[in-house]
Amino acid sequence: MSIGRREFLGRTALAGAAALIAPRAMYSQAAESRVEILINEPIGTINRNLYSHFVEHLGGVVYDGIWVGEKSKIPNVGGIRKALIDSLAKIKPGVIRYPGGCFADQYDWKDGIGPRDKRPSRVNFWADTKYKTSKEYEALNSGPQKYEPNQFGTDDFINLCKLTGARPYLAANLRSLPVRSYLEWLEYCNAPVGLTTLSSARAVNNSKEPYNVQYWGIGNESWGCGGDFLPEEYAEEFRKFTAWLPTYGVKLQLVGSGPNGGDLSWTRRFFTKLTEKGSGQLNKLYGWALHYYCGTTGKGISNEYTENEWYDLLMRSDRMENLIKDHWTVMGETDRDHRIKLIVDEWGAWHNQDANVPAAYLYDYAATLRDALISGINLDTFQRHADKVAMANPAQLINTIHSIFQAQEDKFVETANYHVFEMYMPHAGATAVRTEFVSPQVGFSRFDAQRKEIPTNFWGLNGSASINGKTVTLTAVNPAVSAARETEINIGGAKIVSATARVLSSTDIHARNTFDAPHALEPRNESVTVSAGGRLVYKFAPASVTRLTLTIV
Ligand code: AHR
Repeated sequence: MSIGRREFLGRTALAGAAALIAPRAMYSQAAESRVEILINEPIGTINRNLYSHFVEHLGGVVYDGIWVGEKSKIPNVGGIRKALIDSLAKIKPGVIRYPGGCFADQYDWKDGIGPRDKRPSRVNFWADTKYKTSKEYEALNSGPQKYEPNQFGTDDFINLCKLTGARPYLAANLRSLPVRSYLEWLEYCNAPVGLTTLSSARAVNNSKEPYNVQYWGIGNESWGCGGDFLPEEYAEEFRKFTAWLPTYGVKLQLVGSGPNGGDLSWTRRFFTKLTEKGSGQLNKLYGWALHYYCGTTGKGISNEYTENEWYDLLMRSDRMENLIKDHWTVMGETDRDHRIKLIVDEWGAWHNQDANVPAAYLYDYAATLRDALISGINLDTFQRHADKVAMANPAQLINTIHSIFQAQEDKFVETANYHVFEMYMPHAGATAVRTEFVSPQVGFSRFDAQRKEIPTNFWGLNGSASINGKTVTLTAVNPAVSAARETEINIGGAKIVSATARVLSSTDIHARNTFDAPHALEPRNESVTVSAGGRLVYKFAPASVTRLTLTIV
């Protein structure tokens, strides 16, 4: 048996805290794990925008993931893949962020409007950046993943939002276009018809009704691909881009280009510089964007990993918790009332591209059960911090990185991540409540750069809970590869009268959905017994994401 299989009893730091909440003596036959849901300790309303998405002109995301064209044999609505519309609408997306990512800071929105046959063809930012020194670039077909044909632009994106019930979130180009271009995009999207030449052009191209775009990102990753700025320089650009914006009656929610993972100095120095001109500058910011990807080490192949590598990546994805807390603390040094929220508009697990997908489908691979647990870990984290996080977008919607869907020509599949989003839907709009988990830890070995083994512990059960009327939704991740967690679930201040479970798990930790086996990994419903006295003991399956729906009195 490899050391990775060791799953030993070791009390977490939470054990002490939970013991205060519910002394063990209260339980005859205590289960090995406990969850205490404190419905009288609200954290905040869970913003439906925690269930948001991200679309960038990158690899196979737009062409052919979303856009197949009006003349395609693939079923479509105005050129947009119908299967995608139908599946995405079912999980009630919050916002969709577009057109990038790094792409946004070299994109001219005017290239993507008007008659399609008149739109210019440009360099494909990602193909050129990623492949320009390699033979692979030459090997790319001269298709949309090599040159940007601009067949999908602002109007098409707004149509995607309308068709799926999402709200648009656009990222302005701060690096390579002047403020004027941003003002014109704002005008094209939001000015009433007939008011200006640009709003009339919108009416001709797609819609008399203004798009009323509320969410605008002011650049993207301005510390890197978005301009290589210093935080002080970015703060100056931000002030320039956001001064005296016309609103056209829309309450604009502006998002600043925040840190790369744990770079607290980017946050501190930006806020300090921004407010040199007065604390009133803070009022311009609705949110501060945090980006964090956990990436695979070693081979980096999405579906090849040992048990140790399974735990290692889950643990690295769990870093999100401290990133949120740490940046929030630093933001509070300047924004003392914490009016500005965190927007985690890029998150997920980033592996190597699957060698079996065409080169043009950059960073495309099928999400596995491991990625699904990472989805659960992140969504639970955002919910535990519902007072701090106002939006979160996995990167990206389709055919790249932590995708919700994969598509190639007429093939389409919902990934394991999709199913986690579906399972967590009842949380949206509900009130997050403090929830304590006590469970044996999992032991595994990490390896440092010299391949030296480092014995490590990870939590054995974690999640989040919310309340909506008489319904409490508890979602939890059990990371243990082979240990189920028998767990006593208590709700302080209420009695559980009935419960149901929905579970995503597999005996194969590498399980995933593919075009050939699209239903290999799907959630199952389970009935759950609650004793007449309201006692609920539930066994969380190994390697699982679970939703428990609890009715209370
Ligand atoms: O999601 C892919 C890329 O990752 C985005 O374009 C960029 O913002 C980030 O570095």
